Amino acid sequence: MLKRIKIDTTKPRVSFTFNHQKLEGLEGEPVVVALLANGIRSVRRCTTTGEPRGLYCGIGHCYECRATVDGVNNVRSCLTPLKANMYIQTNLEWTEGEILR
Ligand code: FES
Repeated sequence: MLKRIKIDTTKPRVSFTFNHQKLEGLEGEPVVVALLANGIRSVRRCTTTGEPRGLYCGIGHCYECRATVDGVNNVRSCLTPLKANMYIQTNLEWTEGEILR
């Protein structure tokens, strides 16, 4: 499992949900980082091959990290700051209830 190399103790811990799982992260950190810190590496599937996808460039260029955040589809999770009570889902082509790590 991945873990943070340094924890910013000035940021409050907040709860969020990913595919019906209650998780915690640091407020303001990118959503994909909060997922990685919880051991979740895949946020969607490739529409062509079906392979799991997740963080790749980390700077908003590749769109590999797209997820559904608070009902908005195709949000780049590497550019989206985590907020308390966010509801994050894998994109709609994901099988309901499936969780890949
Ligand atoms: S990881 Fe490339 S756009 Fe988010």
